[in-house]
Amino acid sequence: MSTIVHFEPVSIAFASATLIDKGVALAYIVAALFFIRALAGLSKHETAQGGNTSGIIGMTIALVATIILALTSEPKIGVLTTAILIALAMGIGAVIGIWKAKNVEMTGMPELIALLHSFVGIAAVLVGYNSYFAPDEQAFALGGFHLGEVFLGVFIGAVTFTGSIVAYLKLSAKIKGAPLVLPARHWLNLAAILVSIALMVVFVRQDGVTAIGTLMLIVMTIIALLLGVHLVAAIGGGDMPVVVSMLNSYSGWAAAAAGFMLNNDLLIITGALVGSSGAYLSYIMCKAMNRSFISVILGGFGSDGAVTAGETEEGEHREITADETAELLRNAQRVMITPGYGMAVAQAQYPVAELTSRLRASGVEVQFGIHPVAGRLPGHMNVLLAEAKVPYDIVMEMDEINDDFPEVDVVLVIGANDTVNPSADEPGSPIAGMPVLKVWEAKDVIVFKRSMATGYAGVQNPLFFRENTQMLFGDAKASVDAILSNL
Ligand code: TAP
Repeated sequence: MSTIVHFEPVSIAFASATLIDKGVALAYIVAALFFIRALAGLSKHETAQGGNTSGIIGMTIALVATIILALTSEPKIGVLTTAILIALAMGIGAVIGIWKAKNVEMTGMPELIALLHSFVGIAAVLVGYNSYFAPDEQAFALGGFHLGEVFLGVFIGAVTFTGSIVAYLKLSAKIKGAPLVLPARHWLNLAAILVSIALMVVFVRQDGVTAIGTLMLIVMTIIALLLGVHLVAAIGGGDMPVVVSMLNSYSGWAAAAAGFMLNNDLLIITGALVGSSGAYLSYIMCKAMNRSFISVILGGFGSDGAVTAGETEEGEHREITADETAELLRNAQRVMITPGYGMAVAQAQYPVAELTSRLRASGVEVQFGIHPVAGRLPGHMNVLLAEAKVPYDIVMEMDEINDDFPEVDVVLVIGANDTVNPSADEPGSPIAGMPVLKVWEAKDVIVFKRSMATGYAGVQNPLFFRENTQMLFGDAKASVDAILSNL
């Protein structure tokens, strides 16, 4: 097959397009603008709801336009069969999606997100294989370029697929134990990538579908599937949030690759938006956890067995009751609340919001200090507090308030642990270098939790044994309710 690549100037191509093609192209541009607006909106509390609405509108436009395109472009299996198949797929997807959305616990979101990323990954692999064995005319004309798209799409999709499955299994505690640290693991990853590049060089030089090309594609798929497993299996528990965000980015690039293969501009744009915003979020989280961004991308970082280190107690802790806490709060002028995962587990955000408004009504200045990885997913605490109608302007990011603690009378650490652990300042600690909320600099610190157990990273917290710290044991919601009845 001789492959002459013939690029039509865009203006000529557009002029010769049918009315439906033009309408769909326009709809895709409008949908892409809505997606960009959605991303911009989601970056702030105040605009997040509007951002969500923009995303829904964009997706509706994209779906309608794509269905019209599919039905009007003379589908090989007939219009009626195509319509029935689309309706069936959408119906099944919608039922599963609505059921999941209604049932998922907020604390189960990270694993659900990881699972959804795996769908994008496997979709890219399937689109790649389909596009290789049954290319459309345009793709066929692109020859080696099209083969390159297929190869890259399948590679990214396969890594995303198995990586996300392993992330899902780890986050849902279906796989437990220390990270898998193979000897020379970085070299293994590098070898997998180099071998895949070599296979790609042979693959793109094939003339369409050949036995050698098919073999190259299958071998690379197996390597990429194994690479996905290896990259994520090597990650320690405390570093999983960054991995989920990184897989989010990979799933975006997988979707963009599928967009190239399907010749679908909107999929390319949307994939690029997800890919780049996911990469940027990973970068922000790496900064928040003091991890190197490059080592996250290459995988297998932070896996030094930190999960079980430092579990032993150190010294004596003091306890406080709910009415003593209420007394302390009554006499305070400035209170800072630093919530963590335990607030989500206890669903304590509603009494916490009530406590906040009661204290503010009696003249106490109340603010929230939010650590970037508090809870189990980005923005977890912000979502809970917004749900309970805590005013946005008193919910501050860690960097905005971390120097204010010496002027704070009482800090209420509600179900947070790793994010307020001073041992992060000590070299050699399993969480060394992770920026944390410096709550211990306040006059009094009250820690709400049920026991002396460690947090997510499995590291004991010296904060609990400081002179100005007192423990209020019990379920966080019950404790805040008890304080409210004593105020
Ligand atoms: P954690 O370190 O996970 O500590 C949560 C604390 O809440 C535990 O020590 C637990 O102690 C307490 N708790 C649990 N249920 C409770 C309840 N019903 N009432 C009162 N207390 C309760 O929390 P954190 O400070 O938010 O740190 C987050 C950690 O998760 C970090 O290590 C972070 O890297 C990791 N992570 C974050 C994300 C994202 S993106 N945010 C995603 C995955 C992992 P008791 O058992 O004694 O009650």
